[in-house]
Parts: sequence; structure tokens; C-alpha cells
Amino acid sequence: MDISSLRAVTGGVTTLDPGYKNTGSCESAITFLNGEEGILRYRGYSIEELADKASFLEVAFLLIFGELPNQEQLSKFAHDIKEQSVVDDDIKKILDAFPKSAHPMGVLSSLTSALTAFNPSSVNVDSEEAMYKTVVKIMGKFPVLVAWTMRKQKGLPLDYGDNSLGYVENVLKMMFKKPNEEYTQNPILVNALDKLLILHADHEQNCSTSTVRIVGSSHAGLFASLSAGISALWGPLHGGANQAVLEMLEAIKEDGGDTKKFMAKAKDKEDPFRLMGFGHRVYKNFDPRAKIIKKAADEVLADLGVEDPVLDIAKGLAAEALSDDYFVKRKLYPNVDFYSGIIYRSMGIPVEMFTVMFALGRLPGWIAQWREMRLRKEPIGRPRQIYIGETHRPFKEISKR
Ligand code: ACO
Repeated sequence: MDISSLRAVTGGVTTLDPGYKNTGSCESAITFLNGEEGILRYRGYSIEELADKASFLEVAFLLIFGELPNQEQLSKFAHDIKEQSVVDDDIKKILDAFPKSAHPMGVLSSLTSALTAFNPSSVNVDSEEAMYKTVVKIMGKFPVLVAWTMRKQKGLPLDYGDNSLGYVENVLKMMFKKPNEEYTQNPILVNALDKLLILHADHEQNCSTSTVRIVGSSHAGLFASLSAGISALWGPLHGGANQAVLEMLEAIKEDGGDTKKFMAKAKDKEDPFRLMGFGHRVYKNFDPRAKIIKKAADEVLADLGVEDPVLDIAKGLAAEALSDDYFVKRKLYPNVDFYSGIIYRSMGIPVEMFTVMFALGRLPGWIAQWREMRLRKEPIGRPRQIYIGETHRPFKEISKR
């Protein structure tokens, strides 16, 4: 449809907004974000306070159901999730079929989609009760899939969790427990991961969340919608940036540590290189999550006694960017992913798993946004286009082309 025909059916108003830079796709009461001032709030609570005082599971409940849980609600939520933490053993066969070298994000997306086949009733969310069941199912099973993607890469046996543990402790044990060895929890790592997951838990209508909402708007099931969201998150311009940041910092180190050289590359318009972990579609001020995470990275590294030259390179780059005209003019500040990889690495998490950890944190946000979309009975997401191709051409036989 060309622009004049489109105007005729839309009453004269059609917006063309590539990348949806100025388009609101929905009304939402979940996350408030003021990019100019660097403010992020979940359901009205500041990210700084939540990261400091709440647990990841409390934040998950807050995002999904709208209120902070009382003790009884939190215990029930944790209990219901644990009850659903078994994944069908046949999923292991699917995992077996992947090569060890497969990227964990591709594996995670496939396994999440496959969950629908083993839980067909999860697609039926016509009542609050059915929706709740689907929510606790994925909250229970997803950490198992996360741990298995890493264990597969490392050739470790695929175990289930330990339901006597808290959500985050359980994730760490499922990821790191070696056969025939006791696993001892390190409270510093538990606390750091809890905080990282909270910081990643929601971020309004970003690429992966919009994907989850738009796939879900066709009434495809939650697990299929999440699988699509995981694929969207995988890209280096979105969640995949945390892997790309560490790879970039390593490359700078290998190259002799000359940060200025890489700054110049990032500014050169002929060079496709971008400084990974800098810039954000919405934040045109410091990403408030980056501030919290930078402090957490300093603490974790000090607590663990890790001296990481990559952190020094990161600090150098951040300082240079903050006083560089190119970055200042374009308001390119370090984003959340600039520091998260440094913490993940100090925890012993392989670099290809970084975006999987992001997905684990983002899970409650995706669920909350999907649930809101379904409860508000939003119409199917179906943008229009401005057609710029050929208008009408007669068909040409193949012999005449
Ligand atoms: N390094 C160098 N220049 C950059 C960078 C960067 N990291 N980011 C943006 N720019 C420049 C662009 O070249 C452009 O310059 P111009 O005006 O001279 O053409 C200007 O800044 C605006 O950039 P856009 O790409 O138009 O901004 P957009 O809002 O579309 O993109 C994005 C935001 C994708 C995050 C971008 O800043 C980027 O690619 N950053 C690096 C990847 C990254 O860290 N992604 C993680 C984002 S956070 C998250 O998803 C959790």
C-alpha cells in the first residue's frame, strides 16, 4: 500500500518511525524510565532501593503482580516455583543433540520453546489461576535450563536443583556443582548475582520485551513468546553486549592496552567498530544500573581478592569517554552491560553464558509484560509500512528475464 492509500484507510495519520524511537507501543504500569535524568523504577520503587533492600524473588513478584509480597505471599510464591522446578527428562535428549560448541543463547531459546511441547496446558491462560500456574512453571524450570546450557558446554552431568536453597543459591549450585564434590555457597557471589538479576529484571519496551509482547499478542503461549524474546536479547546491540564488552576489553588488553586507539576507532565513521557497553537508546544520562553495578564490581573483586587488568582497562575507557567530545555530545555513557561481564567473569561464569545470565534476570520482566498485555486484552501487534517498491509490473516469463 503506498502512502496515499494508507492515509485513506487510517484517517490521514500514518507515522513512520524506524526503530520506534518515538512510538509508544502500549500503556504499561510496570517500569518507569526517565532517560534524560537517569531514573529507573519498578512499579514506583527506585532501582537503587530495590537493589539494596529486596531479593530477586521479591522483585520478581513485584514486577509480575504489582505489589511487594508480604512474607506469606513470598513463601507461597517460592514454594510454588520449587514445586515446578522439574524439567521433563526428555528435554535432556534435545540438549544432547546440540554440539558442545553451540552458543548457549541458541540452546536456551530452543529449550524454552520446547517446554511448550512438554507442558501443553501452559498455553491456556484464560483464568488467573491458569496464568499463575504458567508463571510459576517457567520461574521454576528456567533456572534449570540456564544451568544445563552451561553444564552441557562444560561436559558436566545434568542435575536438578536443591529445593532446600533460595532461588539464587539454587541457580549457582545447579551451575557449578561438580560430581562427587560438596558445593559450598559463597555469600558474596550469592549477593552479587541477586543484585545483578534485580538490575536486569525489567526495562520497559526494549527489543526483547517488545518481542515477547508482540509474539504473545497473537496468543502464542508464554514459553514460545519467551523463546522469541531470548533470541532478540542475543544480539550484540541488546543483551549480547555484555559478552561483546568483555571480548572487546580482552582484545584491547591483547593489543597492548592502548584505549585511545580503540576510542579513535569508535569515533571513525568509516569503521563499523563501536565501543561496546556505551550508549543507550533511552538513557541520555548515566544508566542508573551502571552506577550500582560499577560499585558492586569493585566490591566483589575486592572481596574475592581478584585483581583484574581488564577492570583497569574498563575504568580507563569510561574515564576517557566521559571527557571526550564525541561521546559527550552524543550522550554516550557506560550502560549496565559495561560492568556486568566483569562480575560474571570473577564468578567463574564463561563469557558465552553472560547473556544467558541476563535472560535469567529479565525473565520476571518478560513475564510481567506478557501478563499485562494479556490481562489488558491488547490487540495483535501488527505495524504498517510505507511501501517504497515497484508499483505494478506485468509478469515476465522466465525465458524473457
Ligand atoms: N560507540 C561509538 N559511537 C556510538 C556508540 C558506541 N557504542 N553508540 C552510539 N554511537 C553513535 C552513533 O554512531 C551515532 O553517531 P552519529 O550521530 O554521528 O551518526 C550516535 O552515537 C547515535 O547512535 P544510534 O545508533 O543512532 O543510537 P541508538 O539509540 O539507535 O542505539 C545502541 C543505541 C544500540 C545501544 C548504541 O548506542 C550501541 O550500539 N551501543 C553499543 C552496544 C551496546 O552497548 N548495547 C547494549 C545496550 S544496553 C542493553 O541492551 C541492555
